[in-house]
Amino acid sequence: MKTILITGTSSGYGQETALHFHAQGWNVIATMRTPRTDILPESDRLRVVPLDVTEPESITAALDIAGPVDVLVNNAGVPSIGVFEGTPMSKVREVFETNTFGVMATTQAVLPQFRERGSGVVINVTSSVVLGHMPLTAVYKASKMAIEGFTASLALELAPFGVQAKTVEPGACLTTNFGARALNGNSPDELVPDPYAPWAKEILDSFMGQEMLTKESDVAETIWRAVHDTTGQLRFPAGPDAVLLDQAK
Ligand SMILES: NC(=O)c1ccc[n+]([C@@H]2O[C@H](COP(=O)([O-])OP(=O)(O)OC[C@H]3O[C@@H](n4cnc5c(N)ncnc54)[C@H](OP(=O)(O)O)[C@@H]3O)[C@@H](O)[C@H]2O)c1
Repeated sequence: MKTILITGTSSGYGQETALHFHAQGWNVIATMRTPRTDILPESDRLRVVPLDVTEPESITAALDIAGPVDVLVNNAGVPSIGVFEGTPMSKVREVFETNTFGVMATTQAVLPQFRERGSGVVINVTSSVVLGHMPLTAVYKASKMAIEGFTASLALELAPFGVQAKTVEPGACLTTNFGARALNGNSPDELVPDPYAPWAKEILDSFMGQEMLTKESDVAETIWRAVHDTTGQLRFPAGPDAVLLDQAK
């Protein structure tokens, strides 16, 4: 039986991916910063394990508990939306700690066992923001673009050992906790102060009012497809809005 370890399974795409792989008969290590046992099925094939991707000791401890892993999904991520001029550098660093360095650290921790075994797949969840240029996402986009470049290079480094690295690029979803976390208790107006407000407000409204959206199941199914793909495809847009953006590129 194959084992998948997923980061950030307390909600959204990560939770849905854990449910999907469990339903398909996989052994699932569902990791969370604050473990909860009430949101995933009780099963001898599903273990909830603490893992904060910004804490190296937490990554090591989670991998020790997990035992051998076949697939790592770096899903944990935090949003950042608003004008760059008004984004404190402390916030920029915080976003990179999770979305960029957290992904790198978790990947680095799992690679020895993949390389020694001559198999394994790393799936890095980025975002459809990497597929088109959008204002008000400069910090978030930079954190995810870094992982696109990282994964493309890493894939070449690992191929000789039979290990794969790929990205899944989800579109926008308003039903995960991501949108609320992006606003962080602010109204959209507070995120776009003068003199950016007149045009930026329209952009924010268009984010919130988007009609073509990604569902959690689109992402879980795309991760499933990416894990099983044997064609060497590197990037997997997930959800109708992401696929459209990719085609328009
Ligand atoms: N929703 C969207 O529109 C969208 C679009 C494109 C890409 N994405 C990406 O998809 C991924 C999942 O997002 P989502 O929409 O499912 O959002 P979500 O519901 O907010 O889930 C994010 C998950 O990441 C976890 N997390 C945050 N910081 C962490 C850390 N330091 N260590 C471990 N886990 C941490 C959260 O855990 P806690 O509960 O402990 O905070 C939560 O489980 C993210 O990488 C995000 O960037 C989302």
